[in-house]
Amino acid sequence: MNVQDMNISERTIKDMIEKAEAARSFAYTPYSNFKVGAALLTACGDIVTGCNIENAAYSPGNCAERTAVFKAVSEGKKDFSAIAIVAGKDEIRDYTSPCGMCRQVLREFVNPESFYVIMAKNISDYKVMTLEELFPMSFGPDNLK
Ligand code: THU
Repeated sequence: MNVQDMNISERTIKDMIEKAEAARSFAYTPYSNFKVGAALLTACGDIVTGCNIENAAYSPGNCAERTAVFKAVSEGKKDFSAIAIVAGKDEIRDYTSPCGMCRQVLREFVNPESFYVIMAKNISDYKVMTLEELFPMSFGPDNLK
Protein backbone atom coordinates (compact mmCIF):
# COMPACT_ATOMS: atom_id res chain seq x y z
CA MET A 1 0.00 0.00 0.00
CA ASN A 2 0.94 3.64 -0.42
CA VAL A 3 1.48 5.40 2.94
CA GLN A 4 0.20 8.63 1.29
CA ASP A 5 -3.25 7.02 0.91
CA MET A 6 -3.48 6.74 4.66
CA ASN A 7 -5.55 9.64 5.91
CA ILE A 8 -3.63 9.87 9.20
CA SER A 9 -1.09 12.60 9.93
CA GLU A 10 2.55 11.92 10.70
CA ARG A 11 1.97 13.59 14.07
CA THR A 12 -0.83 11.16 14.95
CA ILE A 13 1.31 8.20 13.89
CA LYS A 14 4.13 9.39 16.16
CA ASP A 15 1.66 9.91 19.00
CA MET A 16 0.32 6.38 18.51
CA ILE A 17 3.83 4.89 18.51
CA GLU A 18 4.79 6.80 21.67
CA LYS A 19 1.61 5.62 23.39
CA ALA A 20 2.27 2.03 22.28
CA GLU A 21 5.80 2.30 23.74
CA ALA A 22 4.38 3.58 27.03
CA ALA A 23 1.81 0.74 27.13
CA ARG A 24 4.59 -1.77 26.41
CA SER A 25 6.22 -0.79 29.70
CA PHE A 26 3.20 -2.32 31.47
CA ALA A 27 3.43 -5.68 29.63
CA TYR A 28 3.13 -8.59 32.06
CA THR A 29 5.43 -11.19 30.54
CA PRO A 30 7.11 -13.41 33.16
CA TYR A 31 7.07 -16.41 30.76
CA SER A 32 8.19 -15.08 27.36
CA ASN A 33 9.72 -11.75 28.40
CA PHE A 34 8.47 -10.58 24.98
CA LYS A 35 6.89 -7.22 25.66
CA VAL A 36 4.29 -5.78 23.31
CA GLY A 37 2.49 -2.45 23.31
CA ALA A 38 -0.37 -1.43 21.02
CA ALA A 39 -2.19 1.85 20.40
CA LEU A 40 -5.52 1.78 18.60
CA LEU A 41 -6.76 4.93 16.85
CA THR A 42 -10.54 5.37 16.95
CA ALA A 43 -12.55 7.13 14.26
CA CYS A 44 -13.03 10.14 16.54
CA GLY A 45 -9.29 10.45 17.17
CA ASP A 46 -8.99 8.83 20.60
CA ILE A 47 -6.09 6.46 21.19
CA VAL A 48 -6.72 3.35 23.29
CA THR A 49 -3.67 1.37 24.39
CA GLY A 50 -2.99 -2.21 25.40
CA CYS A 51 -0.16 -4.50 26.46
CA ASN A 52 0.22 -8.27 26.50
CA ILE A 53 -0.75 -10.00 29.73
CA GLU A 54 0.56 -13.53 30.25
CA ASN A 55 -0.67 -16.22 32.62
CA ALA A 56 0.85 -19.16 34.52
CA ALA A 57 -1.60 -21.45 32.69
CA TYR A 58 -0.29 -19.98 29.38
CA SER A 59 -3.49 -20.12 27.22
CA PRO A 60 -5.39 -17.41 29.11
CA GLY A 61 -2.71 -14.87 28.18
CA ASN A 62 -3.81 -11.98 25.99
CA CYS A 63 -1.96 -10.09 23.26
CA ALA A 64 -1.48 -6.32 23.37
CA GLU A 65 -3.65 -5.77 20.28
CA ARG A 66 -6.62 -7.65 21.69
CA THR A 67 -6.22 -5.90 25.05
CA ALA A 68 -6.54 -2.57 23.20
CA VAL A 69 -9.55 -3.70 21.14
CA PHE A 70 -11.37 -5.15 24.14
CA LYS A 71 -10.69 -2.07 26.25
CA ALA A 72 -12.03 0.18 23.48
CA VAL A 73 -15.15 -1.87 22.76
CA SER A 74 -15.91 -2.11 26.48
CA GLU A 75 -15.84 1.70 26.57
CA GLY A 76 -18.31 2.00 23.68
CA LYS A 77 -15.71 2.64 20.96
CA LYS A 78 -15.79 0.33 17.99
CA ASP A 79 -14.87 2.34 14.89
CA PHE A 80 -11.15 2.08 14.34
CA SER A 81 -8.76 3.58 11.78
CA ALA A 82 -5.36 2.12 12.67
CA ILE A 83 -3.24 0.31 15.25
CA ALA A 84 0.43 0.84 16.11
CA ILE A 85 2.44 -2.08 17.50
CA VAL A 86 5.86 -2.11 19.17
CA ALA A 87 7.46 -5.27 20.52
CA GLY A 88 10.65 -6.93 21.62
CA LYS A 89 12.42 -8.63 24.51
CA ASP A 90 14.81 -6.02 25.86
CA GLU A 91 14.93 -3.60 22.97
CA ILE A 92 12.61 -3.20 20.00
CA ARG A 93 14.66 -4.64 17.13
CA ASP A 94 12.06 -5.85 14.61
CA TYR A 95 8.74 -4.90 13.07
CA THR A 96 6.11 -7.09 14.79
CA SER A 97 2.85 -7.97 13.07
CA PRO A 98 -0.32 -9.06 14.88
CA CYS A 99 -0.88 -12.79 15.41
CA GLY A 100 -3.66 -14.58 13.54
CA MET A 101 -6.10 -14.40 16.42
CA CYS A 102 -5.60 -10.63 16.76
CA ARG A 103 -6.06 -10.18 12.99
CA GLN A 104 -9.42 -11.94 13.28
CA VAL A 105 -10.48 -9.83 16.29
CA LEU A 106 -9.53 -6.59 14.49
CA ARG A 107 -11.36 -7.77 11.38
CA GLU A 108 -14.63 -7.92 13.30
CA PHE A 109 -14.72 -4.15 13.70
CA VAL A 110 -12.95 -2.67 10.68
CA ASN A 111 -12.96 -2.44 6.92
CA PRO A 112 -9.77 -4.43 6.16
CA GLU A 113 -9.06 -2.30 3.04
CA SER A 114 -8.87 0.95 4.99
CA PHE A 115 -7.57 -0.15 8.39
CA TYR A 116 -3.85 0.40 8.81
CA VAL A 117 -1.44 -1.67 10.85
CA ILE A 118 1.64 0.33 11.82
CA MET A 119 4.49 -1.96 12.82
CA ALA A 120 7.10 0.22 14.48
CA LYS A 121 10.67 0.02 15.71
CA ASN A 122 10.53 3.66 16.87
CA ILE A 123 8.76 6.92 16.01
CA SER A 124 10.65 7.34 12.76
CA ASP A 125 11.08 3.73 11.63
CA TYR A 126 7.87 1.86 10.88
CA LYS A 127 6.17 -0.24 8.24
CA VAL A 128 2.48 0.16 7.33
CA MET A 129 0.18 -2.46 5.82
CA THR A 130 -3.59 -2.64 5.52
CA LEU A 131 -5.38 -5.41 7.38
CA GLU A 132 -6.46 -6.72 3.95
CA GLU A 133 -2.80 -7.16 2.98
CA LEU A 134 -2.01 -8.95 6.24
CA PHE A 135 -5.20 -11.00 6.33
CA PRO A 136 -6.66 -11.54 2.86
CA MET A 137 -9.99 -13.27 2.12
CA SER A 138 -10.95 -13.09 5.76
CA PHE A 139 -14.16 -14.31 7.31
CA GLY A 140 -16.23 -11.55 8.89
CA PRO A 141 -19.65 -10.39 10.09
CA ASP A 142 -20.99 -10.10 6.50
CA ASN A 143 -20.50 -13.82 5.96
CA LEU A 144 -23.18 -14.51 8.56
CA LYS A 145 -25.87 -12.29 6.96
N1 THU B 1 2.15 -11.10 21.46
C1 THU B 1 1.43 -9.92 21.38
O1 THU B 1 1.01 -9.36 22.40
N2 THU B 1 1.21 -9.41 20.15
C2 THU B 1 1.74 -9.88 19.00
O2 THU B 1 1.53 -9.29 17.94
C3 THU B 1 2.59 -11.08 19.02
C4 THU B 1 2.63 -11.81 20.31
C5 THU B 1 2.48 -11.62 22.80
C6 THU B 1 1.83 -12.89 23.21
C7 THU B 1 2.80 -13.38 24.26
O3 THU B 1 2.54 -12.73 25.51
C8 THU B 1 4.16 -12.90 23.78
O4 THU B 1 3.87 -11.84 22.88
C9 THU B 1 4.98 -13.96 23.08
O5 THU B 1 4.27 -14.57 22.07
